[in-house]
Amino acid sequence: MDISVAEAVKHLQEGAIVALPTETVYGLAAHALNTEALKAIFQIKGRPLTDPLIVHILDSAEAEKLLLHPLSAKAKKLIATFWPGPLTLILPKASHVPDLLTAGRPNIALRSPKHPVFREILRLSRLPLAAPSANPFGYLSPTEASHVKKSLKDAPLPFYIVDGGPCIHGLESTILDLSGPQPILLRPGPISHAALESTLGESILQPSQQASPALPLLAPGTLKQHYSPHTPLYLYPYGGLPESKDNRAQVYFAKPKFIYEHSYWLSEKGSLAEAASNLFKMLHLLDLKHYTAIDIESAPPEGLGISINDRLKRAAAKFS
Ligand code: TXA
Ligand code: MG
Repeated sequence: MDISVAEAVKHLQEGAIVALPTETVYGLAAHALNTEALKAIFQIKGRPLTDPLIVHILDSAEAEKLLLHPLSAKAKKLIATFWPGPLTLILPKASHVPDLLTAGRPNIALRSPKHPVFREILRLSRLPLAAPSANPFGYLSPTEASHVKKSLKDAPLPFYIVDGGPCIHGLESTILDLSGPQPILLRPGPISHAALESTLGESILQPSQQASPALPLLAPGTLKQHYSPHTPLYLYPYGGLPESKDNRAQVYFAKPKFIYEHSYWLSEKGSLAEAASNLFKMLHLLDLKHYTAIDIESAPPEGLGISINDRLKRAAAKFS
């Protein structure tokens, strides 16, 4: 059910679940220190209890209330540059933070969202809000309220929705693990590896450089299969999309020269930011069209294109 900001605040304070817009994707929010509410999030998403939740706070002072230690100099530098915004930091948690939230891990994931609606709700509710993306586990992330409604229409428990329009970035936040001696990029996102390294002035390990057996444990969002549409999805290199075939959607990165009945594109002029913000929207749309398959071209593998391709590889993994 669509509700107002004031109603959302009241419901969240009472332990209800409310889908909220962020600048990345819609999140399924609840009071982060209320274990009954957290259980409901896992149930609605069908998410395994081994996959921890990100907590959203207004600022660094609110973040510190959930942490074991005061923020380090490194964390402060990143926060000064990228908060509010699409950067999630993993840090050692305070003991009163429920184990359910962090799936039994000693660390918590924190981010300060930029979306004005989400911020208003944080300000008025005075709560830390846990919010994973508001989709069934493994399915496409939602970048519009309608995606949340459609994909979670058979959810086992009720929840509310605040419609804040489409999400600007369209890709989930960049996740950086600051809990160990060397920072590790757990999930590429709108803030690039290069931007993080230049702010920190030190090198940051990338997922491919981590000891691979530990990877699924470090961040389950880095699962090989994730974000998938129901329609089989096949990923091709940039510039390598095959000829159009019957009843298969052809999704180009940029608008192609020759357009056929089933041609689509993520960006008019080949802008990475535009392609990122259209990616999940396009896949949601095509998933409703009864195509036998979706053939999609990779983004150019640079900057934000790396994050787009990361999502595409995981989305296509179960079909290849
Ligand atoms: O942009 C975003 O981050 C969105 C919006 C709603 O804020 N949220 C989001 O949440 O993408 P979710 O749950 O779909 O993805 C969060 C990822 C999961 O893969 C989870 O495993 C990882 O973050 N994560 C959460 N807490 C963690 C922790 N303590 N240690 C390691 N990974 C963690
Ligand atoms: Mg997610």
